[in-house]
This record gives sequence, structure tokens and C-alpha cells, in this order.
Amino acid sequence: MRIVIVDDDETLGKLIEKSLSSDFDVRYFNDPQDALKNIMAVGADVVISDIKMPKMTGVELLKAVKSESPDTYFILITGFGTVKESVDAVKAGAHDYLLKPVDIDMLYKKLMDIRKLIERREARIDSETPVYNSTVFGEILSLAERVAKTDTNVLITGETGCGKEVLARYIHTKSERSKAPFVPFNCGNFQDHLFESELFGYRKGAFTGADSHKRGIAAAAGTGTLFLDEIGEMPLTVQPKLLRFIETKTYYPVGSTEPVTSRSRFVAATNKSLEKEVKEGNFRQDLYFRLNVLNIHIPPLRERKDDIIPLADHFINKFSHLNANVLRLSDCAMKKLMAYNFPGNVRELANIIERGMILEKDKVLTDKSILIMDDSQSAEDIVNLDELIINHMQKIIDRAGGNKKKAASMLGIDVSTIYRKLKITD
Ligand SMILES: Nc1ncnc2c1ncn2[C@@H]1O[C@H](COP(=O)(O)OP(=O)(O)OP(=O)(O)O)[C@@H](O)[C@H]1O
Ligand SMILES: [Mg+2]
Repeated sequence: MRIVIVDDDETLGKLIEKSLSSDFDVRYFNDPQDALKNIMAVGADVVISDIKMPKMTGVELLKAVKSESPDTYFILITGFGTVKESVDAVKAGAHDYLLKPVDIDMLYKKLMDIRKLIERREARIDSETPVYNSTVFGEILSLAERVAKTDTNVLITGETGCGKEVLARYIHTKSERSKAPFVPFNCGNFQDHLFESELFGYRKGAFTGADSHKRGIAAAAGTGTLFLDEIGEMPLTVQPKLLRFIETKTYYPVGSTEPVTSRSRFVAATNKSLEKEVKEGNFRQDLYFRLNVLNIHIPPLRERKDDIIPLADHFINKFSHLNANVLRLSDCAMKKLMAYNFPGNVRELANIIERGMILEKDKVLTDKSILIMDDSQSAEDIVNLDELIINHMQKIIDRAGGNKKKAASMLGIDVSTIYRKLKITD
């Protein structure tokens, strides 16, 4: 992040420059016109400028810079008695203002917030790239990048919500097919002839209702990537059709005798263990071998905890339209997320942050707005368990003809337990 400081008071300007120089790329000017020239030439992410200066005021500088570079943030410094002026400056487009004497810690905090805003802007531009920090996910991405250059069939496995589709798209993006489409096909959604007509398309008159030709998903994928999602949910009856397609790379649209050759690449994904499905007779072994030329397994989020905070930050940016004030997690919120085991993986984390952004009233996302399943579920479980015990006791008491002592011996508990429990409900 490049920062330009402009102040005719050299002592103050240099002091700010010195205190920020270890964390940022900073340049100080005492003449606003020199500063303007420099900003126009090399740009600046943030300008920290005094308001009252000879030759050119801070507000004039702001207007000149913003006309060329509207994304540059301005923090204006103002002396006592010119608060109105600084409020006007904010109206003119300054991001913030600081009162003299300048509180360096406060300035530093504001700059860190701006850094977040810039990251947020960049994240929006680059939203397709997987977010991670763990070594294991880094290794997965580099394997994915290598395999992207080949035409090998890939099987991505991992629990629900752990990023299988994100990885499939990444493989596509890094491949030479990236200009061609990435087309997901949910294999679990279709039975028999619907499966064929969806995947392979059909010719006019192939069946009642087929009153025109229809292109299938396979044709739509063209020379791109065909993403066979939820492959483990695929009905056994249609598996031979997919196998034939993958093996021969040709298919027949329903109602056609002309084979069509496909030049797509296959990437499949499942949250099931296909080996187990094969053993249990739910999945054809030959199809499994065809798909699983290379397996990339994504471990659950709880086994790559280093990804939790960067992903949470990413979702804070993603959901910033819900609450523009929140820029980061509080320390307690981080601890709470790090302690959680995320059965729903990254998708669950995204949902938690989305909900948190709606609830949060503070400027940081606090642990109070991080509602995790453990909290709500455990409260529910206690109620349910108590209800369950009481219902069961009552059933046994009925069976014992209303005799609580007999019911207690049938249950193998002391009769006082029955009285105690039932009193709770009374
Ligand atoms: N590394 C990541 N970086 C950014 N976003 C991610 C990452 N991993 C997952 N997500 C997000 O989490 C959500 C779930 O990811 P995805 O749909 O890829 O999971 P999945 O493994 O295909 O889940 P399912 O088994 O339920 O189909 C999506 O909103 C996705 O954008
Ligand atoms: Mg998926």
C-alpha cells in the first residue's frame, strides 16, 4: 500500500512518515503541488494531507487527485477550530479526518482499515481464486495446477461444502480449456431416459414432447470441462451410459443414430466413498476406475485450521454489502471459529459469517454474532433429552397401571427420580 503524506509542517510530516515507514511504502512532501505531480506519475493508495497549506489546500489536492484517480483514499489533517472544514472535506470525498495533534495509533488503525477496504475491492475483482493459508491446501492447488495441463480424468473427493466445485473450477481456469465453458452436471438428479436427454440432448420426435432438437450438457461443454458432480448419487441404471461415454468419448443424442464425438475433459466429484459404494454394490467398479485416474482429496476444514481465518476474512468481504461497517473479526470471534469443528465445512463458515454480518452492530464481527451450531444445538438437545425422558417415564407409568413404584423398578431407577423428573414438568 503506497501512502503519500503532504504537510507544510515538516516536523509533523516527517514524524508521520517515520512512524509508518516500517509497515507501509511512504513518501513525504511539504509542497502539495510536488505531491500532486508524484501522485499523478506513480499513483497512491492513500493520501494523508493537511488542510491548510499555502499554494493549495488539502481539499483542492483531493479534488485534483480524485478527478484522475477516484479510488485513492484521503485522510485530511485539521487543526483545532476547523472541524467544520473537515466535515466538509469528508463530504467532498475524503475517507476520514484527523485532529491535530495527530494520534499516530489512531492513524495507524485507520490505515489498517483502508488496507482491508483495498483488499476487499481486489477480492471482488478476483473472487474466483480459492482462498487458503494451510500447507495442505497449497499442495492441493499445486497438484491441481499440474493436472490442469493434462487431459487426465480427475476425481475430487471430500466432505460436503469443503470446496470440491471450487477446485474443479480452478483446474478448468488453469487449463488450456479456460476460454471454453465449465459446465456442471449433477449426476444424482436424473433417472434413466431423463439422464440421457439432459446429458446427450435429443432429436426432434425422439419421444412425445420432443418437438425440437435439444442440445445436451455434453455438447454445451464443447472443448471445455464437464464437471460430473455428485457422482456417488448416480442411479445404477444410468451408470453404464456414463461409462460408455467416458470410455469412447462419443455419444448418441436420444433419437439419433449419428454418434457425436466429445472433446471435453472430465472432472468428477463426490462426498461419498466410492470404494465403499462399489463394495456395497451401489457403484460400478469399472466406472469408478475410469473416473479415478487421479484422485484429489480435500481434507475437511477442521483438519486445515490455518484456512479458517483467511476464509472468514474473505467472506466478510464477500458479504460486505450486508454490513459495510464490519471490516474484520474480533479476537474472541477468531478464537470461537478456531475452536469449532465445522461439520458443514467452508459452506457452513460462509453461512456463519453471512448471518454474523446481518446481526453485527459493532465495527468488528464479535463472537456474539458468530452463531455456531454447537450453541443452538446443545440448548435444543437438553430440552429434547428431558422431554424424551419424561415421555418415556410416563409411558412406563401408564403401562404399570399408574403405579410409579412399579414403573421405577421396570425402569431400573429409584422412584424418587420419577418424582423429581415429573415435578419439573408440573
Ligand atoms: N478455498 C475456498 N475459497 C473460497 N471459497 C471457498 C473455498 N472453498 C469453498 N468455498 C466456498 O464454500 C462454498 C462451498 O464450496 P463448494 O460448493 O465448492 O463445496 P463442495 O465440496 O462442492 O460441496 P458439496 O459437497 O455440498 O457439493 C461455496 O460457496 C464456495 O464458494
Ligand atoms: Mg459441490
